[in-house]
Amino acid sequence: MRNDLKTVSDKVIEKFSRSAKLAADMGILPYKSEHGQWVASPYDGNSWWTGGFWPGLMWQLFAMTGDASFREEARRAEELLTAEFRSFQFLNHDVGFMYLLSCGADYKLTGDLQARTDTLHAASLLMGRFNPAGYIRAWNHPSQAGYAIIDCMMNLSLLFWASRETGDPRFAHVARIHADTTLREFIRENGSCSHIIEFDPETGKRVKEHPGQGYALGTSWSRGQAWGLYGFTLAYANTGDRRYLEAACRIADYFVAHIREDGLTDCDFCQPKDEVRIDNIAGACAACGLQELAAQSRHEEYRSAAERLLDGLIDHCCDWTDASCGILTHCTASYHDDGAGRHTNITYGDYFFVEAIARMLGTDPMLWQ
Ligand code: GLY
Repeated sequence: MRNDLKTVSDKVIEKFSRSAKLAADMGILPYKSEHGQWVASPYDGNSWWTGGFWPGLMWQLFAMTGDASFREEARRAEELLTAEFRSFQFLNHDVGFMYLLSCGADYKLTGDLQARTDTLHAASLLMGRFNPAGYIRAWNHPSQAGYAIIDCMMNLSLLFWASRETGDPRFAHVARIHADTTLREFIRENGSCSHIIEFDPETGKRVKEHPGQGYALGTSWSRGQAWGLYGFTLAYANTGDRRYLEAACRIADYFVAHIREDGLTDCDFCQPKDEVRIDNIAGACAACGLQELAAQSRHEEYRSAAERLLDGLIDHCCDWTDASCGILTHCTASYHDDGAGRHTNITYGDYFFVEAIARMLGTDPMLWQ
């Protein structure tokens, strides 16, 4: 690595010590930062899928420093998230993202038994979304009963964890069935992944691919590629099934071939050549997935690629000033929806940025398993 990560992590800790107090004062789950202020999610209140990244970030910093104020801020956020079990209606397959990084992390790092119960509750909600025709249903709109999405590969870890924790194999069976469907239907010949595939909810037969958060139908939304890369690597780590490892390597090779000269990541690998649309969340997430893949596959070149991504982010896209509450700039939620954030600081970009650094420094508590 060109950059000294100890120096960078000291700056990360200092910045989030300041901005965690701002979040606590506002009483919100930060979604993004604008004009020096935290902003809550523009959609679905505290049930929005990104709510776990803030407590996850706080747990990463707690693991790095042992500073109890990060643990207390993580628990404040965890309470807001577990309150969402009662409202229920907006929760979807992303309970993996939300609760692995909040109560799951709490249980892992402190042994808190209520946190364990809450994480099992989340796993049961995810199980309840399984359609025995062969997939986990992604979203809730009645017209989307057959929709499954690549992002769900990251949520499967919650199910694998629940089987290990309870000794009940049902959770892991469901995770494997969904992973097998994803392997068959989402991964293309060239190693890229589709974002959304619709199945017939009665028969499980493929209906069609839909355009998602990328440039257009059939293109390669970079964050979707990162979800596939990291998700299949975790599926291999959870099962030892080499088909998942091979899929992760194919997606990783495709991703690495598309990293820009400056180490940053385009929002879609098929976007028009003259379009400047970066998504650093994808690069930060891939920097984590590639490190895990290097460890699982023993292919060191994946670690070098992760270093290239991390150097690119540190060299070009970190805001250390108080103009932003977070750090990583040029995060883009969705190619065609600037309302959710375009080229701005978004909390889940910072989560993966900090996880990638923690992995390199050896402090990462591995919250995805
Ligand atoms: N899981 C939705 C996204 O990546 O934006």
